[in-house]
Amino acid sequence: MKILIVGGGGREHAIAESVSRSSKVEKIYCAPGNAGIEELAECIPITAMEFDKLSNFVKENQIDLTIVGMDDPLVGGIVDVFEQEGLRIFGPRKNAAILEGSKAFSKDLMKKYNIPTAGYENFTDPEAAITYLKDATYPIVLKADGLALGKGVLICNTFEEAQEGVASIMLEKQFGDAGNTLVVEEFMQGREVSVLSFVDGKTIKIMTSAQDHKRAKDGDQGLNTGGMGTFSPSPFYTPEVDAFCKEYIYQKTVDAMAMEGREFKGIIFFGLMLTETGPKVLEYNARFGDPETQVVLPRMKNDIVDVVEACIDGNLDKIDLEFEDNAAVCVVLASMGYPEVYEKGFEITGMEAFHEQEGYYLFHAGTKRTEKGIVTNGGRVLGVTAKGKDLKEARKNAYQATEWVQFANKYMRNDIGKAIDEAE
Ligand code: AMP
Ligand code: GLY
Repeated sequence: MKILIVGGGGREHAIAESVSRSSKVEKIYCAPGNAGIEELAECIPITAMEFDKLSNFVKENQIDLTIVGMDDPLVGGIVDVFEQEGLRIFGPRKNAAILEGSKAFSKDLMKKYNIPTAGYENFTDPEAAITYLKDATYPIVLKADGLALGKGVLICNTFEEAQEGVASIMLEKQFGDAGNTLVVEEFMQGREVSVLSFVDGKTIKIMTSAQDHKRAKDGDQGLNTGGMGTFSPSPFYTPEVDAFCKEYIYQKTVDAMAMEGREFKGIIFFGLMLTETGPKVLEYNARFGDPETQVVLPRMKNDIVDVVEACIDGNLDKIDLEFEDNAAVCVVLASMGYPEVYEKGFEITGMEAFHEQEGYYLFHAGTKRTEKGIVTNGGRVLGVTAKGKDLKEARKNAYQATEWVQFANKYMRNDIGKAIDEAE
């Protein structure tokens, strides 16, 4: 088979690595890809939102299956365009990707179907939002309804902060049209867990759990980022939590979407918070997580192409997902200054150390090939993933491997997986 992967970050590199292990695959393409994906796939200079160019490329090159990594093309309807052309593609259609594309939609869905989540109100009128916020309990959470690169969430401690938040989201349109609707949500406390799942419209199969580290600095300080590191499995995702979520969250979400006439096929990523009153949904994503995928897929034993095809064909019930009985940790190597201002274009050395190292992976995110070699080309540059027999060993291995690669302004968090010690 020939496969096209859409995207060019660390997540897509991890998807490509998993696809490259499939016995069915003879050739992988990636659009646009990056300097690391190039080792596994032919990268083509088409960006993820150029649906017509992508579908033409697929037809010309007789590609059998397209796997979409990113949220924007899914929410924008890439699956509908491909299906109209008779092309095989993995991911939700536009009317189902709204599960991620509109937080107001997902909150209304959870309320209607009694899926545990934080209390909330949706607003399209800034004045009404302000009136509501005057008498609210603080802290409180403001969320831009639409996609905002993971940055559209503000936690406000006072009414004044909330007022500023409403102004920046709804009036100044800091996140563009994503802020036309505002979700005001009850503040929850607890540990966060990411759970990815495969869905075929009816059946849902849960992957192993993971935990992300969203803040830029050690001790969960600093600004929110796309994610500075992950570990898998989460020791806080106990059998009790799993049983609760299976009963009250996972299948109910899939059934709710089907009942709304929005059959969901693809990946549902459940962002959960384990609160004192039980697990609740923080958010849904309609795609693989980044950098969760970098610790989940290396541990998956199944041939990913079999699982993806079962989702498309509606026979996921025939598949048993299997994960290795070990652990993985991913530490993101970023450019100093990320997620604000940072420099690019620095040469990266030492990457060859990862070749032929069983259980170690160097997933590229913001890298570029130039005449002087591979250079930094983004905020999150590389993801170093290592496996171990348990979380502690995986963490030790991952941090050791972060020393193998060098580039100017290299920055990482030094406490990825600190929570592992708290679990004991
Ligand atoms: P989201 O994009 O909705 O996952 O929000 C980004 C981050 O904001 C989450 O990972 C949480 O750390 C935080 N967050 C979102 N909603 C809430 C909430 N209701 N209570 C507390 N923290 C939240
Ligand atoms: N790591 C969080 C996300 O992919 O949205």
